[in-house]
Formats: sequence, C-alpha cells, structure tokens
Amino acid sequence: MNPIGVFDSGFGGLTVARAILDQLPNEDMIYLGDTARAPYGTKSLPQVREYSLECLDYLADQEVKALVIACNSASSAVLRDARERYDVPVIDVILPSAKRAASQTRNGRVGVICTQATATSASYDDALDAVPGIDLVTATCPAFVEYVEAGITSGTELMQVARDYLLPLREADIDTLILGCTHYPLLQGIISYIMGEDVSLVSSAEECAKETYAQLTDLGLLSDAKTSTRRFLTTGAPEPFEGIGLRLLGGFVSEVEQLYTLS
Ligand code: DGL
Repeated sequence: MNPIGVFDSGFGGLTVARAILDQLPNEDMIYLGDTARAPYGTKSLPQVREYSLECLDYLADQEVKALVIACNSASSAVLRDARERYDVPVIDVILPSAKRAASQTRNGRVGVICTQATATSASYDDALDAVPGIDLVTATCPAFVEYVEAGITSGTELMQVARDYLLPLREADIDTLILGCTHYPLLQGIISYIMGEDVSLVSSAEECAKETYAQLTDLGLLSDAKTSTRRFLTTGAPEPFEGIGLRLLGGFVSEVEQLYTLS
C-alpha cells in the first residue's frame, strides 16, 4: 500500500497530519513542508500556485495513493488545477471545512479567519456560495502564524492581538467560526475564550482528516497493515522543523529530512 502525501507551506500542516494519523494510524505518510519558501499566506496567489504545484508534483512522483493539501493558502491557489493534474484523489482543507460550517450553523452567519492569500482568493466564499442563506464574514489574522511558530499560544499580548482580530466577527453575530489556517487549531483555547461558548469552531485540520478517511474508505484505499512509516521532508533546515514540531505537537515528528531539489 502506498503512502498518503501531505503537503503544507511549512510546519502548520502538522496539525492536519496529526489529525489524519489519529484517525488512520495504519497509514504510511510522507509529509512535505516547504519551509524554505514559507510563509505562503503573505505571497501572491500565482506565486503560491507555482510553489504548491512543484511540491505536489514531487509528492505525486513518490507514488502516493492520495494527496492532501494541508494548507489553506495552497488549497486556495491550486485546488481546481490539482484535481485535474493528478490521477490520485486530492483532498484539501477548504471544502470539508466549508461543508461542516454550512451544516452546523443555526443562524446562517459564519466567520472564517485565515491568511491574506486565502482571503484574497475568496475560496471560502466560493465554497459556500452554493449554500443558500449563508453570510460569510472573513477576517485575516496575520500575526497568529508568528505567535504559534514562536511557541506562544497564551498570554496577555496574544490575548489583546486576538481580541482585536476577532472583534469584527463578534460584532457580526456569527455562530460558527472556521479556523481557516493550519496554525489556528493550536490557538483554539484563546479563540474559543474570546468568541464565547455560543460560537462553534470548525477546525480545518479535523475536517480534512475526516474527509481523507471518507475518501480512502469509499475508494477502497485504506491500509490494513499493522505497522506504518512516516517521513517528514522539509525544503529548509531540518532542526527548526523538528524543534517546532516537537514543541507544538509532541513526539509526533522525528528524523526530518532536508529536500534540496525544490526551493
Ligand atoms: N499553512 C498556511 C495556511 O494554512 C499558513 C502558514 C503560511 O502562511 O505559510 O494558510
């Protein structure tokens, strides 16, 4: 059985990889983080598209049985192209999260927080356009990525930044908030504290993992192996990748390999 290929701009997609391995512990996985060229969220969509397709081509060449685009900015830039380009299933973070939010909201008012690239692409608007009666409010939270990568997920400074970012969403009376960036599941505590109990959070990592489970099951591609292997590849230096991975996601990341052919 071939591995699942998981791609992200950097470390954040580890939240998606972890959710997938929690649900599918028997699967082999190759994770590629393009840390040398991250962040993607501040770059133009054509630039993100070019980098993303290079990374996805690399994973497709490793004969993966499915490709998971574990990055909201990359999903926003390449989703349609990627579905046509590869002959394995391509799973993204946008559509499953939008679907969950649409089925969960009671008042039809949904928020999404994301990077500038994702906001510019309007990919969440497109995904929810077909659902009648949904109003989507979008807010970008650029500094959240930096806080998470610095290992900061609480504290008075972050609390103030988060209050400022989330104020328009609180004022918009949303009842469902999509965490539309790979890093944000690690800030669920503070986001939930500020938004209050009446707002349900939708984690794009969890929803993408459920979609991966569903697609592999429907296509008869699940592994029944008793052991599994994981490879972690990065286009940048392995040490920070391993350091941040260990700090944020526990003992889940090890033996990170540097990939020199991209970047
Ligand atoms: N992985 C990106 C996303 O989900 C966040 C980090 C970046 O900007 O590269 O949009």
